[in-house]
Amino acid sequence: MLKLTYYSHSCFLLDNGEHQIIIDPFLTGNPTAPIKADEVKAKFIVATHAHGDHLGDSFPIAKANDGTFIAVNELANYAIEEGVTAHNMHLGGGWQFPFGYLKFTIAHHGSADGKGRYMGNPAGVIIKTGGKTLYHTGDTSLFLDMKLIGETNKIDIMTVCIGGNFTMDIDDAVRAVQFVNPEVVIPMHYNTFPVINADPNEFKSKVEALGKKCIVMDFNKPVTFE
Ligand code: NI
Ligand code: MN
Repeated sequence: MLKLTYYSHSCFLLDNGEHQIIIDPFLTGNPTAPIKADEVKAKFIVATHAHGDHLGDSFPIAKANDGTFIAVNELANYAIEEGVTAHNMHLGGGWQFPFGYLKFTIAHHGSADGKGRYMGNPAGVIIKTGGKTLYHTGDTSLFLDMKLIGETNKIDIMTVCIGGNFTMDIDDAVRAVQFVNPEVVIPMHYNTFPVINADPNEFKSKVEALGKKCIVMDFNKPVTFE
């Protein structure tokens, strides 16, 4: 069983009934966030890259929950400098955590902090927990190697950025779904700011035209995958 909760933008909480993992917890300063950072209960905090709308509240959440921050090496080292417990990883590497397996994938994007300090490669992430395999694309352009991700993993749930401007738009995201071939698709990274406005229902109908299932998740309303 995997219970998935969407906190807007690219932030999802995964709960397998025993462990909670939060990805890209951008809550403070997020005009669409349905909860505050100090309400998050999660021992594992994953950031796909260092941009403020992804790293977000990762460090305070990790500290408040006595948790572990998981990221690529350069970003994890920054967390350690800030007094956060971290597990350093890198692209293509996987690790078996108490909640399950996690592996970082490539993403074509940038990753620096607000002052321009290099924070390693941006990433997507594959997480196997609760009997399901989830692929969160992070922020990325469309790339052909998504085919390889789909061929080497049976993806149950794919969360995919659709907002354009910084990432894939709807049509590129539809192509990404064709490459990865997941069971269920969930759009993300849209309508947080005007520059990434996109209609998730347009995306949903284009995905459904491929014979794929798409869920446009409401904020803070968990969906359970049995
Ligand atoms: Ni970004
Ligand atoms: Mn972003």
